[in-house]
Amino acid sequence: MMQQIQAAVDFIRDQYSTVPQFGIILGTGLGSLAQEVDQKHTINYENIPHFPVSTVESHSGRLIFGTLGNTEIVVMQGRFHYYEGYSMQEVTFPVRVLKMLGISKLFISNAAGSLNPDYRLSDLMVINDHINLQPGNPLRGPNLDELGPRFPDMSEAYDQIMVGQAMEVALDLNIPCHQGVYVSVPGPNLETVAEYKYLRVIGADAVGMSTVHENLVARHMELPVFAVSVITDLGVPGKIKKISIEEVIAAAKVAEPRMTALIKELIARQ
Ligand code: HPA
Repeated sequence: MMQQIQAAVDFIRDQYSTVPQFGIILGTGLGSLAQEVDQKHTINYENIPHFPVSTVESHSGRLIFGTLGNTEIVVMQGRFHYYEGYSMQEVTFPVRVLKMLGISKLFISNAAGSLNPDYRLSDLMVINDHINLQPGNPLRGPNLDELGPRFPDMSEAYDQIMVGQAMEVALDLNIPCHQGVYVSVPGPNLETVAEYKYLRVIGADAVGMSTVHENLVARHMELPVFAVSVITDLGVPGKIKKISIEEVIAAAKVAEPRMTALIKELIARQ
């Protein structure tokens, strides 16, 4: 694994040597942040040694290097999901590569179903904690001592200073935004009515199929994480209806300018 990470890092550095300060993972329908980046270089995932190749149509897979405001960043446009058939180590490989490239903070976005009855479609939810219901764990197996400890601490899974800053940014920019707990499920199916109820009872505000495993490898390496969900469907009793991927993407599109503004301003305040 360490050799594979190093091979990917060497390949990328050969093409673009500026060290990015922060990394950003863009999720479903949230690609427009990429247009705000003053792009200096892009690399398609399929060209990077040991990178998995994206299979979901709504995700185009490439790394974008450039500046957002005055900050050097690297953007993952398109991410990998466990439901696509990859192992947890494969899904999270790019996060380890970004860390070894030199990023000091990780920003993640995703689409999620709401469990909290106060949330509306296209609202944002800053993730302040998570519950992991994934069947696998990317840290399972021999520990990579070079990256982090066997038993990583998770008492601050999401950087609480950035959570507070993001809520301030949302207020300043008049963006509908909550903070809450994200629960990660394997997918690819959405939840039954009983499952949505169960996820609410165990303490979650929103449910999705990503982010938590990315957070785990990041926190293993002590990389501070900020993550935000866009609410694309309502998993709340009385509001649950048949969901199509088109509706999920449409709700994400409405939130796209808000999400972009929030992350851009949050990064400017670091
Ligand atoms: N459940 C799980 N994952 C999701 C959902 C949902 O309702 N919406 C977007 N991703």
